[in-house]
Amino acid sequence: MNIGIIGSGEMGSALASKCIKLGHTVSIANSRGPASLKQLAGEIGAEAVSVEEVIKNKEVIIVSIPQKNVLYLPKKLFQQLPGDVVVIETGNYYPTLRDGDIPALVKSGIDSLWVQEQLGVPVVKVFNSILATSLKDMGRPKAEKNRIALAVSGNNTKAKEVVFKLVDELGFDAFDIGTIAQSWKQQPGTSIYCRDINLDELKKRADAMGTAWSDMREVIMAKRKADEALMKVDYPAYLRSLHNYILS
Ligand SMILES: NC(=O)c1ccc[n+]([C@@H]2O[C@H](COP(=O)([O-])OP(=O)(O)OC[C@H]3O[C@@H](n4cnc5c(N)ncnc54)[C@H](OP(=O)(O)O)[C@@H]3O)[C@@H](O)[C@H]2O)c1
Repeated sequence: MNIGIIGSGEMGSALASKCIKLGHTVSIANSRGPASLKQLAGEIGAEAVSVEEVIKNKEVIIVSIPQKNVLYLPKKLFQQLPGDVVVIETGNYYPTLRDGDIPALVKSGIDSLWVQEQLGVPVVKVFNSILATSLKDMGRPKAEKNRIALAVSGNNTKAKEVVFKLVDELGFDAFDIGTIAQSWKQQPGTSIYCRDINLDELKKRADAMGTAWSDMREVIMAKRKADEALMKVDYPAYLRSLHNYILS
């Protein structure tokens, strides 16, 4: 596929590199322009372009930037896309750690619902709930017992099918967790967030969350807040706390 990636940091570069190894053609962009991406692009075999260029003639666009910076993407960037282009977003909202107060996002509490509204096109949420390091190193062949599973949410079934295939190619099982309004189940503060769990465990934990955001909101937000506080003072301890379920 022809894939364009907006954001070439930890996640964007890991996704670009893995997709290129799979035989996809990848263009990357960041906020500082293509000259700043020349070295990375050369190393991984991507094309470095501007944000305006990166969305052109692509089957899949991946948005992988800090949540607050979604506000600074060019207005109407996505409205020019043909309807069959799949737009993936990998973002997580960390208000006290990085993103600050975004009132509309705080109000709804559902990160990717807000991103979808900002971009003005349907998005598929995926890759937000795996660390870039696991994404890079922990892909496994299909049917391996403890292959990591990734939650996927979005409103467009056809777009999700494209994403399921890409997730599988990258070495992970995909699990459809619902619509974008249900994507809270894969946000920071949930029991499936960055836990490197397999499909059975992911299904079990997703089921245990139930279906009502209003029932879960308080507990998920409190956990995210606690995690942000821990990340600030002791990031390795936060990482250790995630891996309470160990793949064997
Ligand atoms: N790191 C992880 O393990 C991980 C895992 C899952 C999900 N995520 C989520 O994925 C997103 C990206 O995370 P990351 O760790 O890759 O971040 P990162 O390493 O800080 O990289 C951010 C990238 O976004 C680019 N960017 C920022 N604003 C932009 C704009 N307005 N237009 C174009 N590019 C822009 C930056 O470009 P410049 O450097 O030129 O500004 C940079 O390439 C975040 O929402 C994060 O929460 C991260």
